[in-house]
Amino acid sequence: MKICVVGTGYVGLVVGACLADLGNDVVCIDVVKEKIDKLNNGIIPIYEPGLEQLVKYNLERKRLRFSIDLVSGIKISKVIFIAVGTPSKKSGDPDLSQVKEVAVQIGKNLNSYKVIVNKSTVPVGTGKVVKKIIQENLANKKLDFDVVSNPEFLKEGAAIQDFMRPNRVVIGTESSKAIKIMKDIYDSLFLSTGTYFVSTNLETAEMIKYASNAFLAAKN
Ligand SMILES: NC(=O)c1ccc[n+]([C@@H]2O[C@H](COP(=O)([O-])OP(=O)(O)OC[C@H]3O[C@@H](n4cnc5c(N)ncnc54)[C@H](O)[C@@H]3O)[C@@H](O)[C@H]2O)c1
Repeated sequence: MKICVVGTGYVGLVVGACLADLGNDVVCIDVVKEKIDKLNNGIIPIYEPGLEQLVKYNLERKRLRFSIDLVSGIKISKVIFIAVGTPSKKSGDPDLSQVKEVAVQIGKNLNSYKVIVNKSTVPVGTGKVVKKIIQENLANKKLDFDVVSNPEFLKEGAAIQDFMRPNRVVIGTESSKAIKIMKDIYDSLFLSTGTYFVSTNLETAEMIKYASNAFLAAKN
């Protein structure tokens, strides 16, 4: 599967490297050129056990590459993961401007049916907002797309293990076509680990991530 991961921070880099390792053809995009140049040379900006080896292994096999060219990443990919930051504002609300900006670019550059997957942690209802922004930016193009919520539960320090052996993979969408594509992406992971798949609607998947974060915060 041809995949574009937009935002090569902690989550985007781990997700991109792991998806490549599962056999997908992945390009990770970021706006910081220096970071992208380093990553293409196997220099990793964060420390995460096993990540450097995973990136180098998949770079060598040409299943993983890094780029600043978002337009090309959108056009060549069947699935686009949004993994940009959602920092807290002074009010405590998450700043969704990075997510919205990526949605604008996806709408402007959509050239065929694609699945847009939100990995960033966003409030319930954001998937619908992303869908609306993409639709508004399609101009007059008659193109179909689906928006999916696939929240990430990784912990820093055990991120690769958490991605490769998750307790569950949550997929939120109303589209059976998108569910099938998402299952294909994670197929080898289901076969090797017996991980189960939670298939639900967009809003419920978004709520599961917030509920999980709240539970973990209260537990600590
Ligand atoms: N870090 C974690 O442990 C963790 C775990 C689960 C979920 N999350 C969620 O995942 C999301 C990403 O978190 P993170 O820690 O990876 O953030 P991060 O700040 O490390 O990475 C975000 C990256 O996106 C890039 N970016 C910003 N705008 C862009 C654009 N228009 N195009 C391309 N790249 C762009 C930034 O340069 C940065 O490299 C957040 O919503 C966070 O809450 C984080």
